[in-house]
Formats: sequence, structure tokens, C-alpha cells
Amino acid sequence: MLTNKRVVLIISGGIAAYKSLDLIRRLRERGASVHAIMTRGAREFVTPLAVGALTAQKVYTDLFDREAEQDVGHIRLARDYDLILIAPATADLMAKMVHGIADDLATAVLLASDKPVLIAPAMNPKMWDNPATRRNVETLHADGKHFIGPNRGEMAESGEAGVGRMAEPLEIAEAASKLLSGDADAGTRPLSGRHIVITSGPTHEPIDPVRYIANRSSGKQGHAIAAAAAEAGARVTLISGPVSIPDPQGVDVIHVETAVQMLDAVTSALPADVAVMAAAVADWRVASEGSQKIKKDGSGKPPALEMVENPDILATIGHHESLRPALLVGFAAETQNLIDNARSKLERKKADWIVANDVSPETGIMGGDANTVRIVSSDGIDAWPALNKSEVARRLVVRIAEALQADSQN
Ligand code: C5P
Repeated sequence: MLTNKRVVLIISGGIAAYKSLDLIRRLRERGASVHAIMTRGAREFVTPLAVGALTAQKVYTDLFDREAEQDVGHIRLARDYDLILIAPATADLMAKMVHGIADDLATAVLLASDKPVLIAPAMNPKMWDNPATRRNVETLHADGKHFIGPNRGEMAESGEAGVGRMAEPLEIAEAASKLLSGDADAGTRPLSGRHIVITSGPTHEPIDPVRYIANRSSGKQGHAIAAAAAEAGARVTLISGPVSIPDPQGVDVIHVETAVQMLDAVTSALPADVAVMAAAVADWRVASEGSQKIKKDGSGKPPALEMVENPDILATIGHHESLRPALLVGFAAETQNLIDNARSKLERKKADWIVANDVSPETGIMGGDANTVRIVSSDGIDAWPALNKSEVARRLVVRIAEALQADSQN
């Protein structure tokens, strides 16, 4: 319910603005008072008269409304309300929000507000898919803005099908209600209700009670993905090898040492909607771990260590009939033939995406804070610029959320 809640409804320019009239009724039915701001574009599609008749309130349209501005109206509008709802939100309005542009009343209110913001985007599918919009949506997610939709469907104006259709007024009113009822998930966080299993860090393969074989993985990338997925509302199980970084907040962490333990923990943690295998799992282990510390025997010859292959966790899950999640993401840290190696892993391990990165020592990626990755999938290769590992994690989480949404609508 929205009893006694004050909602600022920003209507921006798009054909979906006609649905905002119904949205006003849905919000008021739930007890909210609705104060509408219409952009210039919105007024091309619906009239302030119609909006005002439905809200039964003054409709705000201009930044310099003489009457309202006597007490700095846009600042008050931004502060005196419980929620700012943008429906429809155009690609242009979201781009302005990303850059803090405040050149009309709607954008000025958004910039001046510290209240929750719920965005219901509506645009042509090609605009929604455009890399510029993708970047903007990622940034707005990272800024803590909430989204509802867009849905898959036919566009009103062109009949084109794809993702871009504004969520229905009922869905938007429901999301607003949940958001204000303190249900943090509110179904508006991109991974609400999803379970994601992530592996991270190296494994340690014991030689004897005091020695082990390890690698240089720090766990920074896998842990950052776990943190970003939790922030996005997912239930996260992180299976971590031995690392020296802290457990991320709000995540169930299972600590393991070896590849065999990691596989065990992963199969126990499944099923999940998504698995991201970011751990640098050792390919081999010593066949039989010595029960005592191996001593020099005086012969001058080093001991012969017999190695056996470890289970491949990603491939095991990829080929598993019942445990394989709908979306399986692997990593490929390579020092040569990055793309070819990633492609062959995609196939061999039956993953949906491989996040490929060049870990040659000169890149400083292993153990460092930055990462340059390419997402290799059957759809092609997406090359991301150099980003810090948290940013890679946030982008990956947005991509995951979109893939799951597209999947559930198919
Ligand atoms: O073959 P390679 O080790 O480069 O493959 C990397 C991908 O496979 C990563 O996603 C890693 O987590 C996963 N992997 C695994 N189990 C192994 C080896 C690799 O899950 N034993």
C-alpha cells in the first residue's frame, strides 16, 4: 500500500506517456498522493490538463514557475516526497541523470533529491540495446536507482518486437508500493529472488602437512562479483579458496582449500539461477599427500611428486544434466591466444559465457585492482575497456540480470 505516501511522478516524452494516466489511478487507489512533473516531450503526448484532472494536484512543467519558485520550488519538490517515480523514462532522461544535467524541472528535481528513485524505462529496443544506454543503465544501477522493466513486447509506434516496452501500470504501482513498504528487494533490484553461486580465489593443493601448490589468484575479481550480485539483490553463495581479502557483506561464504573440496561445495550449493566460476582452480594435485613433512634423504635427489588431474568444476557443472544453472559463466585467464582459448573453453566446458583476460605479468591483472576483459559467447565478443575489478563486477551483474530477464520472457 501507499497510504499517505507522496509520490513525485516524472512523465517524460514517449508514446508510453499515455499509460501514465492509468498509473496515476493505480497509485492513488493505493493511497498515494501524486504530484506530476511533465517534461516538454511528455506534453507532446498527453496534456497537463488530463494529468492534473487525474492527480487532482497542480502539475509542474517549467523550471522557472514564478509561483512555485518563490520558495525554491524544485528543491522542495525534491525533498518533501517519499518517492520519485519516472514513467516513462526516456533514454535521454536517463543519460542526463547519469551526467547530473539539470536543464529542466524534472532533471533539477532528480539532481536535488536524495529520495528513492524508481525508473520505468520505455524506448525502442534498439535504443535500449545501444551500448550508450547499456552504460547509463549500469551507472544508474550502481548509483542505487531502482528499475522496473522494461518488458519484452511489441512497440506501440513501430510494431517492432524486443525489450523496451514500459512495464504495465499495475506492475509499476506494485513495485512502488513494495519499495516504500521497506521491502528492500521490492522486485526492483535486478537480481531480486535469484540465487547465484560464485567461486573465487586460488586452490591450495597439499604436498605434505606444511607445503602446498598454489597460484597467484587474489580472489579480488570473484569477491567483487559476489559483492555486486548481493547489492543487486541476489542470494549469493561464494565458495572461496584461501585468500587474504575479507568476506564480502551480505554473502554466504564457504571457505575451502582444495579443488576437490571446491567441487563438493559447489555441487552442495546448487541449484542456482547462475554460476560464475571465477576461481583459479589448480589443474593438478599431488596423488598422495604425505602424512609427514617430506625430509631430504641425503641422496641429493629431490622427491618425485606424482601428480593427478583435478576435477574441472566448470566442465562438471556444464555437463551436469540436473545441476547446470540456466546461465553458466566461466573465466579464462590466459597469457597467449586469449580468444581462441576462451572459445574452446566455451565449447569444451559447456559454459554460456567466458570472461577472458590476458594475465601476462606485464598486464598486472593477477593480484592487481584493474582488469581488461572480453566476454566471449556464442553471440560474439564484447570487449570492455580497462576497468577496476568492482566495475567489471557491476557490469557483469547487469549483463547477467538482463540475460535472466530475457530468458524468463522467452
Ligand atoms: O582451463 P582453465 O583453468 O583456464 O579454465 C578456466 C575456467 O575453468 C575458470 O572459470 C575456472 O574457474 C574453471 N575451472 C574449474 N575447475 C578446474 C579448472 C578450471 O572450474 N579444475
